[in-house]
Amino acid sequence: MRTHYCGALGDAHIDETVTLYGWVHRRRDHGGVIFIDLRDREGIVQVVFDPDTEESFALADRVRSEYVLKVTGRVRARGEGTVNPKMKTGTIEVLGKELEILNAAATPPFPLDEYVEVGEDVRLRYRYMDLRRPEMQERLIFRAKATSYIRNFLDQNGFLDLETPILTRATPEGARDYLVPSRTHEGRFFALPQSPQLFKQLLMVSGFDRYYQIAKCFRDEDLRADRQPEFTQVDIETTFMSEEEIMGIAEGMIRNLFRDLLQVELPEFPRMTWHEAMRRYGSDKPDLRIPLELTDVADLLKDVEFKVFSGPANDAKSRVVALRVPQGSQLSRKQIDDYTKFVGIYGAKGLAYIKVNDRAQGIDGLQSPIIKFLPEDAVLAILERVGAETGDVVFFGADKRNVVNEAMGALRVKIGHDLSLMEKDWAPLWVVDFPMFEEDGEGGLTSLHHPFTLPACTPEELAADPAHALSRAYDMVLNGTELGGGSLRIYDPAMQQAVFEVLGIGEEEAREKFGFLLDALKYGAPPHGGLAFGLDRLIMLMTGASSIRDVIAFPKTQSAMCLLTQAPGEVDPRQLRELHIRVRKPAAESTE
Ligand code: AMO
Ligand code: AMP
Repeated sequence: MRTHYCGALGDAHIDETVTLYGWVHRRRDHGGVIFIDLRDREGIVQVVFDPDTEESFALADRVRSEYVLKVTGRVRARGEGTVNPKMKTGTIEVLGKELEILNAAATPPFPLDEYVEVGEDVRLRYRYMDLRRPEMQERLIFRAKATSYIRNFLDQNGFLDLETPILTRATPEGARDYLVPSRTHEGRFFALPQSPQLFKQLLMVSGFDRYYQIAKCFRDEDLRADRQPEFTQVDIETTFMSEEEIMGIAEGMIRNLFRDLLQVELPEFPRMTWHEAMRRYGSDKPDLRIPLELTDVADLLKDVEFKVFSGPANDAKSRVVALRVPQGSQLSRKQIDDYTKFVGIYGAKGLAYIKVNDRAQGIDGLQSPIIKFLPEDAVLAILERVGAETGDVVFFGADKRNVVNEAMGALRVKIGHDLSLMEKDWAPLWVVDFPMFEEDGEGGLTSLHHPFTLPACTPEELAADPAHALSRAYDMVLNGTELGGGSLRIYDPAMQQAVFEVLGIGEEEAREKFGFLLDALKYGAPPHGGLAFGLDRLIMLMTGASSIRDVIAFPKTQSAMCLLTQAPGEVDPRQLRELHIRVRKPAAESTE
C-alpha cells in the first residue's frame, strides 16, 4: 500500500518509513549515488539510492524516464546546502531501501522533466503523456475542485441534479446538430443535445422547482479557442423567479467560487444593455478591463467629399466610429499596416487613422493619409468629441454596422493587449435587454438566444414589430468572454406560437418539431427561467489557460477531430447496412 503521495511529504515525516508509487521524472547519477525524482499527481520528491543497498541500487541504475516504480525508504532532512527552495518537498529526501520496477517506459515523445514548447498536434496525439505535465495536472485537478464546489453550492441551495437524455431530437441553439442514425427506425435520426434546454423546461412543468446538471452539450459549429464541438455546461433552471433573482443566485455562485478557490474578490457586476455594449465596444461581450471605447462620428461626416466616410454616414445600416488610443502615435507604419490587415479579417476595407502629434497646433499638428479629404471643422470636431490629446492616434471604421462592430471591437481588444492597457485583472458584467431576433442575412429573422426566450412585450406587439422586440435574456461576461447566458422562458402557448411565426416556423412544422413542448405549456406550465454557464470557459479563465482545450482532458482539434483515437473513424460496411446508410464518397475517392 502507498503510505503517502510523493508531493505530500515534508519535514513532518522525517524519520518515517514511507512507501511511494510514481513515475521517474528524472534520474541522475552522481558518481556513487543515484537520485531519482519520483512524481505522482501531488508533486515530486527526491529519492536517493546508495550502493549500500546493493540490489535496489542496481535496479535504480536501470530505470529511465517515466518508468513506474514502487519505492520504500526513510524520509530524512536534506544536508546543509542541498535544500532546494524551488521544490515543495525541497527540505527533505527519501533514502531508498526497496525498489520495484512496476513497468518500463519507452522514450517519451517529448521531455516531461523540463518545460519545452511542444506542438499541440503532438500533445493531443500523446494526450496521456501531456496530461502528466504538472501544469496540465494542476488545471484538471482545479477543474475537479471547481465542479465539486459548484455542485455543493447548488445542492445547498435546493437545486436537484437531474439527468436528461443524450439521444434526443434537435434542440435548437443555433448550431448544426450531431446526428445519430437509428437502427430500429429506418431513415430516422436522433440528434445529440445542443443543450438540455427543452428538457429542463419540462422538468419545471413537472414541478421540480430547481434543477441543475453538469451537462455535456454537442454543437457542430466553427471552432475557436473558446469553442469545442463537445463541451460542458453548468445548466440551471428555476420556477417562479424574476430575472433579478436568477442573476443573483448565479452571481453569488461565481463570486463565492472565485473567493474560495482563487482568493479573488470579484468587483461589482455592472448591468449594461446590449445596445450600449454594441455602441461603446462593438461587442455583446465587452472586455471591460480595456479602457478604450468606440465613438460614433457619422453625424459629422454626412456631407464630406470622402466617400469612404460619407457613404456609410448616410446609410441607416452602416456605422462610422472613431477609436482613440492614448499615446498611440508612437505606433509604427508597420504596426498600423498590421492592424489594417487584422481588421481585414473581419471584412473591413481599410483602417483610416489620424496621429495627433501636437494638439495645440490644430490641423497642422496632425499626421494622416485622410485629412486632405476632410474639411478642417469636421476633423477638429471629431478630435474634440473623442477627447484627443497630443500623442494619441485615432482609428476609424466605416462600413456596414456589423462589419464595423466586429472589426473595431476586435481591434480595441487587440490594441488593449498589445499596448498592455488592461486596468484590472477581472472585469465581470451582465449584458441585458437583448433584442429577441437578429437578421439572418437572407431577409428573415433568427433568435439571438433561442426560440424559447420570453419577449419583453405581448404576442401582438411582437408580431407587429419583431425586429425591435427585446427579450428577458441576460448574459454573464467576464474579461471579454461570454461565461453564461439565460433568460425567462415562454410559458404561454400563444406566445410560443407567435415567436415561431416570426421565425418562419409555421403551425404544422411547430407541431411536428415542438408539439411536445406546445402541449406541455397547455397543462399548467409555471413561469420559469434559468441559465447555463460554459464550464470549460469558466475554468479556462480561472486557470489563466489560453484555450479551453487546455482545461479539457481529451479535447478535439479545430477541425473537430480527436488526434488520440483518430475519431471520427470509418465503420464496417455491415454496420452501415444495419443503420440503413449508404455513404457518398467525396468526389476524388469515388469509385462509381
Ligand atoms: P448558450 O448557447 O448561450 O445557452 O450556452 C451557454 C454557455 O455555454 C458555453 N458554450 C460553449 N462552450 C464551449 N464550446 C462551445 N461550442 C460552446 N457553446 C456555448 C458558453 C455559453 O455562454 N440553453 C441555453 C442556456 C439557457 O438559456 O439556460 C444555452 O445553451 O459559455
Ligand atoms: P482608399 O480611398 O481606399 O485609398 O482609403 C483611404 C484611407 O481610408 C486608407 O487609410 C484606408 O485604410 C482607409 N479606409 C478605406 N476604407 C475604409 C473603411 N471602410 N473604414 C475605415 N477606413 C477605411
